Amino acid sequence: DKGPHEHFMLKEIYEQPDSLGRLLRHLFDLDGGKVKDDIAANVDFSAAQRIVIVACGTAHYASHVARYWIEDFAKVPVEIEIASEYRYRPRVHGANEIAIVVSQSGETADTLAALKDVREHVSATLAVVNVPTSTIAREADTVLTIEAGPEIGVASTKAFTGQVLALLALALKAGCDRGVISSEDLAARIGELVTLPRLISETLAVRDDIERVARHLIQSAHVLFLGRGIQYPIALEAALKFKEITYVHADGYAAGELKHGPIALVDQKMPVVVFDGAGALSEKTASNAAEVVARGACVIRIGTGVESADQGIRTPQCSDLVEPFVNAVVLQLLAYEAARAKGTDVDQPRNLAKSVTVE
Ligand code: F6R
Repeated sequence: DKGPHEHFMLKEIYEQPDSLGRLLRHLFDLDGGKVKDDIAANVDFSAAQRIVIVACGTAHYASHVARYWIEDFAKVPVEIEIASEYRYRPRVHGANEIAIVVSQSGETADTLAALKDVREHVSATLAVVNVPTSTIAREADTVLTIEAGPEIGVASTKAFTGQVLALLALALKAGCDRGVISSEDLAARIGELVTLPRLISETLAVRDDIERVARHLIQSAHVLFLGRGIQYPIALEAALKFKEITYVHADGYAAGELKHGPIALVDQKMPVVVFDGAGALSEKTASNAAEVVARGACVIRIGTGVESADQGIRTPQCSDLVEPFVNAVVLQLLAYEAARAKGTDVDQPRNLAKSVTVE
């Protein structure tokens, strides 16, 4: 049932204040400012020497976002891997390695095969899934569910933000297990996360601005998305979602990589969408954007610092920790509005299946 919404994808985008609120309560003792004791209770991160996160598609980008937090909060090296590559690659495993697999459906063939293969080489396996009865959930030592409810639209939306939040909870738990994060610090971080449902609602309210930008983007054959730091995987996810449902070619790049190749493509016909990011790297991203402007390209900025509608999309003021979630909602609505304007089959894009059970 789509309720008042035209598509399941839109319904699922709008469910995010609720799905993330529910997940927050599942993961954290919000009053006590702690990660709940039963979250990945039998995974001890204290001796971990390496964490590998294996997934496909959008779940891989969620892992990519989380890597920044795990390395920052828990000071443990993280590798992110595409399941179809990881399972066949000659690999080197060390002592005390933890493998995390991330899958909305819990049935993705490559992710499942990678889990079965890695099991005997690591000290623990943990599955982050939406479907608790799925094969991947059954095969992993420990399961963490994202509590998103059924996701029908082929393009993953609420599962992406759920995966990012669940992995963030693991990063905080790992930081505590390893004595890197103090209890005051942890409580402060959780205090920031409590604002998430409200900020997602505020982001949904800028839909008109997003629709205007979407209509502009579909006039081009190609769109480039750029980000730096934690906004880089957001740019990758933006490009995936955009091409998946609009059939417009889109590419995501690390802003600093632009001058190592892709800038050659940039001209007046190639809009460039830049996730500004409010963090320490925002000035560097701005200078990359200026280089694109100098080549005549149209730059559309997405961020809290955007001052007027002709610059791009202004997002609500939020903490650095919350910003990837806010930008995720913007990229989802951007792809959705672009696809709707083009009239493509938003919920069932051509050639794609919701669950990829063959490799
Ligand atoms: C894109 C999308 C896919 C899935 C990928 C993995 O919008 O939904 O890229 O993320 O097929 O699926 P799961 O998470 O079920 O393993």
